[in-house]
Amino acid sequence: MAAGTGVFAEILDGDEVYKYYHDGEWKKAASGKSVAIVNPTTRKTQYRVQACSQEEVNKVMESAKSAQKAWAKTPLWKRAELLHKAAAILKEHKFPIAECLVKEIAKPAKDAVTEVVRSGDLVSYTAEEGVRILGEGKFLVSDSFPGNERTKYCLTSKIPLGVVLAIPPFNYPVNLAVSKIGPALIAGNSLVLKPPTQGAVSCLHMVHCFHLAGFPKGLINCVTGKGSEIGDFLTMHPGVNCISFTGGDTGIAISKKAGMIPLQMELGGKDACIVLEDADLDLVAANIIKGGFSYSGQRCTAIKVVLAMESVADSLVEKVKARVAKLRIGPPEDDCDITPVVTESSANFIEGLVMDAKEKGATFCQEYKREGNLIWPLLLDNVRPDMRIAWEEPFGPVLPVIRINSVEEGIHHCNASNFGLQGCVFTKDINKAMLISDAMETGTVQINSAPARGPDHFPFQGLKDSGIGSQGITNSINMMIKVKTTVINLPSPSYTMG
Ligand code: G3P
Repeated sequence: MAAGTGVFAEILDGDEVYKYYHDGEWKKAASGKSVAIVNPTTRKTQYRVQACSQEEVNKVMESAKSAQKAWAKTPLWKRAELLHKAAAILKEHKFPIAECLVKEIAKPAKDAVTEVVRSGDLVSYTAEEGVRILGEGKFLVSDSFPGNERTKYCLTSKIPLGVVLAIPPFNYPVNLAVSKIGPALIAGNSLVLKPPTQGAVSCLHMVHCFHLAGFPKGLINCVTGKGSEIGDFLTMHPGVNCISFTGGDTGIAISKKAGMIPLQMELGGKDACIVLEDADLDLVAANIIKGGFSYSGQRCTAIKVVLAMESVADSLVEKVKARVAKLRIGPPEDDCDITPVVTESSANFIEGLVMDAKEKGATFCQEYKREGNLIWPLLLDNVRPDMRIAWEEPFGPVLPVIRINSVEEGIHHCNASNFGLQGCVFTKDINKAMLISDAMETGTVQINSAPARGPDHFPFQGLKDSGIGSQGITNSINMMIKVKTTVINLPSPSYTMG
């Protein structure tokens, strides 16, 4: 079955524009306006989505607010049951959804299928975790605090926040949407989803799987449109009780403008790979390829700078070069390793970083080559701190190597970054690895493996400009609730068996 056909036919208006989802129905924007989604490979319009107005956003917010009131009274086991159903439907329809990922974000075909399956698993795990942790509260007694008798019993429970605004990024429009939707729903919240333009059609297909699972009307809503028209309006909307955002530095602007509501932000990284003299260089090279070049480097957790000890740098660079030469470059449909980057402006930005490094004397391990949005993988050796690529995120298949003379120099470079998402260290000495991990100012350090967010139940968080709060299934559920307490006051102290 192809995207937009079969069970997905109702999300498409004729054969032209995909509809938005409001109050359990697929709708067209009243203005008749739409937004084009350009295929990164063909550079032609692939899909169109509705350009929703502020008026339409207001209506969506109203529906989300009223649906949440009823959902909060829906038994936890029933919420979990619906999530399990949605997960199964999502996995059943992995191919049409993967087709959208291939066409609108140029994700390699196999990785696109993996993203959908991983998302189904994430939703199921969330349902199970929610049943476990949301069914538990705390019971405290007053006489543990100085000066108190045992006259107060405090009962705590976890209650929903209300309406969660979820904004996923282009690189995982399905997986990083369900990582917000699942926790929000199991905790009793309703959802307004604003997909990225590239990735919107994949998101709409995913939302339809939740629709088919039979969630109540208005509980999940998905608006599409121009960020310039509805972006600030959504993030500053008084009806929003929590924002979960993954993306670039737009998140910093959102954080400054948002009201007094909980924020969960993941805003990118400049993940360093520190390589010590005793590292297994074949293992390092394999991880640099996986960590630096998967999905053409368009991952927040990609290795974005290699900090190699001078004594092993020559040998490491040779090993990485040999593996780069084996990468398959071309269209995502052919499941190539390196595919076109998401937009022409991204390709131009990457090229700017490459040209800056060239002017400043970096060693090019391969010839720089670009056709349209397709950029050939490039390893830049002898990068120095005065080059932009030493600090900025290319979000493309270009990886700098900085040679270091001490571990301290590597840690210093890592910690001088504005980002602090993940990092990795390669060494056979676990004691050194632990010391380096503790010294690195990042949310996670991987020892002897490339940075990665998954498995999806692991905590995932960034320091500094990399984000606010911690994700991962358990942490996201806990972030999307408030604690409510009821205190029973007794007329006289009561001691069990007393
Ligand atoms: O770029 C999004 C970030 O969350 C990366 O995820 O799974 O590729 O490590 P992952």
